[in-house]
Amino acid sequence: MIDPVSEAQSPAATAPLIDPFGRKVEYLRVSVTDRCDLRCVYCMAEDMSFLPKAEVLTLEELDRLCSAFVKLGTRKLRLTGGEPLVRRDVMRLIRSLGRHIQSGDLDELTLTTNGTMLFKHAAGLYEAGVRRINVSLDTLDPHKFQAITRWGKLDKILGGIQAAKDAGLKIKINTVALKGVNDDEVHRLVAWCGEQGFDLTFIEVMPMGDIGEGARMDQYWPLTMLKAELQKRWTLTESDHRTGGPARYVRVEETGQRVGFITPLTHNFCESCNRVRLTCTGTLYMCLGQEDAADLRTPLRISDEDGPLIDAVREAITRKPKGHDFIIDRRHQGPAVGRHMSVTGG
Ligand code: 5AD
Ligand code: SF4
Repeated sequence: MIDPVSEAQSPAATAPLIDPFGRKVEYLRVSVTDRCDLRCVYCMAEDMSFLPKAEVLTLEELDRLCSAFVKLGTRKLRLTGGEPLVRRDVMRLIRSLGRHIQSGDLDELTLTTNGTMLFKHAAGLYEAGVRRINVSLDTLDPHKFQAITRWGKLDKILGGIQAAKDAGLKIKINTVALKGVNDDEVHRLVAWCGEQGFDLTFIEVMPMGDIGEGARMDQYWPLTMLKAELQKRWTLTESDHRTGGPARYVRVEETGQRVGFITPLTHNFCESCNRVRLTCTGTLYMCLGQEDAADLRTPLRISDEDGPLIDAVREAITRKPKGHDFIIDRRHQGPAVGRHMSVTGG
């Protein structure tokens, strides 16, 4: 019989994760909760039902899972949600994961947040080893902000962003391009990010989760059009800057900041995909745009040793698909995948 301890330490147990298409998987995104304190119209229905608490992994289990991935060569960890900072005691998890930054096993520990809790946690994030965060912000107009998020207060978010800046965190703003909503504001957003020293990434709306009949077609604004609009006022220079994510960047000569474009629908970014996504129930999605998934909660709970868990991760990676099949057009009005973004994180 194989001794589980020596097996866990054998070279095979820590060999890097390589998928069938030769892509090295070294970026794990973890949704630590499916809950959120906002209800952005493109993301959630107003009356969302959330997971029962019993199905959700404990902070200790999330730590063990993340740490197993770090052992398997994960270099970048991003916490998402829902809204990661609304999970009770989440700072305890973040501080604990910070040990992998200190040891040098992890290059980056980061998060994607809606900014509502930043005023409270910005300094703690920096202390834990976080250096950069992505903040989702679709508008600088308080009325529109409230309309998009259904009940958010822009002031609070702007205060949180300032707190994060003061704490020394580098900030990237994520803006979902929404036809008829923020299409008249893109220049203002570029100017504001330029003044603040923030990079800015525009995201094309993705068909995830049921949010109401016909809503997608109404919201969809291709980034090719957004970029053409920006070029009327700004000098955009193509840049080969990559962050390990799917965004393509340009440099805005007038501000010196970068603007990125994430275009899942008009541009295939799958060939360089280095990431997988874990939900707060321990389900691993090998692709944002496919239903196929692996249950890691069972092998996690079956044993205190990581052997069964690591086997399950390796098996899952053999199933990482070549790419997604998102389509939004008049014949495909429903979601391409049934789950909401808040399940797997962005
Ligand atoms: N399409 C595109 N972006 C989305 N987000 C949430 N739902 C969608 C969607 N359907 C964004 C959030 C956040 C990031 C995590 O994903 O606004 O910036
Ligand atoms: Fe919450 Fe982000 Fe979804 Fe808005 S987009 S409801 S902030 S998870």
